[in-house]
Amino acid sequence: DAVEYGLDAPFDVEFHDSIPSTNARARDLADEGRADVAVLADEQTGGRGRLDREWSSPSGGVWLSVLVRPDVPPARVPAFTLAAAVAVARAAREAGVDARIKWPNDVVVPGEDAQGDEIERKLSGILTEMEGEADRVSWVIVGMGINANVDPDDLPSEARPATLSAEAGTVDRRLFTQRVLEEFDELRGDPESVIPAWREYATTLGKRVRVDTPGGEVVGDAVDIEFPGTLVVDTGDERVTVAAGDCEHLR
Ligand code: BTN
Repeated sequence: DAVEYGLDAPFDVEFHDSIPSTNARARDLADEGRADVAVLADEQTGGRGRLDREWSSPSGGVWLSVLVRPDVPPARVPAFTLAAAVAVARAAREAGVDARIKWPNDVVVPGEDAQGDEIERKLSGILTEMEGEADRVSWVIVGMGINANVDPDDLPSEARPATLSAEAGTVDRRLFTQRVLEEFDELRGDPESVIPAWREYATTLGKRVRVDTPGGEVVGDAVDIEFPGTLVVDTGDERVTVAAGDCEHLR
């Protein structure tokens, strides 16, 4: 059911009303040898999140996967994921939303819970997949899930989701997607520029964090981020760099 979406974007854009997962579709396109394609869906019936979680993708969202073939080793791929988070944060800010980035790549909106305590509500998540050799990736798929014009009641409440429409009114998804793709395209051309851009929107820096990493738990103050997306945590005893993990803000 792919149709032309009429976007003036630096990628070929394939639009689906309903599809299991835009990342899975982008994977098929990668196997066909394609590059620089964006797959977009109004609804996903089998949306996937990080850590094998499900990703609720009702109609009205921006469910978007970008297939690229950068000439980089796998270790530099996190910069592309961060670039996507910056692109989404910028587009959301243009739409009037106070978007920030929680390390590594959740776009969140500050708010208060029923008790008046500060919380961060997730507007967007990113799932990056890649394949290739140790010295160079063959392809990278950056999947962005953005709760755009979605009814929060259609999303899992325990995830405390934010939506663009609830924050700033219904958005023009075509324009929004175009802005995300333009920003992503610009940042991917200059991956080193992603880090200062990311710092501008960071909510994690300066916070006390607990990061679940493949090598164990790291607790401390998040002091900086370094290329290609490594978090620097001051544990009190030492500075630890964390390449990947699930991050919780403690205060
Ligand atoms: C996360 O767990 O935070 C990442 C969520 C990523 C969801 C997006 S929606 C578009 C693309 N297709 C998928 O199946 N997942 C990603």
